Amino acid sequence: MPTHFSQLSSSLNSFAPRLLDWFAENGRHDLPWQQHQTDTPNPYIVWLSEVMLQQTQVTTVLPYFARFMASFPTVQDLAAADWDLVAEHWAGLGYYARARNLHKGAKQLVTVIEATSDFPQTLAGWEAISGVGPSTAGAIMAMGLHHYGVICDGNVKRVLTRWAAIDGDITKSATTKELWTLAERLTPNECSGLFAQAMMDMGATLCTRSKPACLLCPLQDDCLAHAEGRETDYPVKAKKQAKPSKFSNALLIESIDHDILWLQRPDNGIWGGLWSLPLQFVEKITGNVTGKSEKATGDTLLDVRSNEKVYEVEFTTAEQIISEWLIENKLVAESVSNTLLDDAPIKHSLTHFHWYLTPQKLTIDATQMAGLNKKLVAADIAFKWLTEQKAQDSLGLPRAMMKIIER
Ligand code: ADE
Ligand code: SF4
Repeated sequence: MPTHFSQLSSSLNSFAPRLLDWFAENGRHDLPWQQHQTDTPNPYIVWLSEVMLQQTQVTTVLPYFARFMASFPTVQDLAAADWDLVAEHWAGLGYYARARNLHKGAKQLVTVIEATSDFPQTLAGWEAISGVGPSTAGAIMAMGLHHYGVICDGNVKRVLTRWAAIDGDITKSATTKELWTLAERLTPNECSGLFAQAMMDMGATLCTRSKPACLLCPLQDDCLAHAEGRETDYPVKAKKQAKPSKFSNALLIESIDHDILWLQRPDNGIWGGLWSLPLQFVEKITGNVTGKSEKATGDTLLDVRSNEKVYEVEFTTAEQIISEWLIENKLVAESVSNTLLDDAPIKHSLTHFHWYLTPQKLTIDATQMAGLNKKLVAADIAFKWLTEQKAQDSLGLPRAMMKIIER
């Protein structure tokens, strides 16, 4: 066997012991979802926390996790809860598809439990649950059931691309495959749950994105990126395209009782299942929004009936009805602020675009309200009239709506 291979193989074999020693001394052992100190792990807790942690940091997740556990202590409680209550608990965590998958996943889990008297016990069984990908399934197998499981999430990929100087684009499937193979080779048969938790802690606390603490790292002696002094050149990731911008008015349609109209967004679009102010999409003719000085000149309201492709997904039936109703009644919403300077739109960035939302207000009388209600009821639209405060307290609102309320 060539020497370099035996070196590599001793390096591979000592990886887990070194990492586990580091974890025992320096890892996090007090996170509320951790199950490594118990002999009877709770897969519900691990599943719930892993879904919450998929795109969100530990410190952000902690209070949300506590509220979920207080309101939905078991998967049966979560499955039986109204979607609105789940959405309200999730509001502010972002990536709402995760919340919808979580609720759907809870129902699927309850079905499995009713049929088998237990949570899924295999990787495939967990991967069949909505919102559970291969890495989350591996984490649940390892940490939630104390079975064998392998994780390869963003943290792990960062550590491994650096340690092994893997310079393939991690968005490519060939690289993903290479990383999974390496993760499987490194994961010990015994205590894969501890190993998974240790890898996550390493990635989150030592091998961080921009300033890895290599001098404290148990892998520094054979880490190839560290040897080259090129830690932050890994992982290699294809540059994302610049995000496009979209512009909308957010309508505060107010009744004489100071209630505001709220619409529940359809499940398949942006903010699916959450509640939002009616939006009017605006086509920007010239210029870009650079700050507070630009007024809304050069904008035209998109004619909803023109079926503009760009906004197809976000435009709801309810918004079309409202838009047409405004035109029919010759009603125009107006700026909410008294001064020009307060008129800048609220910027909100989503995965695929930046969204500039301009709040606009319109007060309507009882007859107008009755007319609008009639149209919405006829079209079977889910809507509510609530003050901003009550909406905030009782509806699941996306963060962009909170920004408008708190403006
Ligand atoms: N990120 C994803 N899962 C995690 C966990 N269980 N602990 C800490 N960070 C995580
Ligand atoms: Fe990451 Fe540095 Fe450790 Fe390498 S030595 S795994 S770059 S922290």
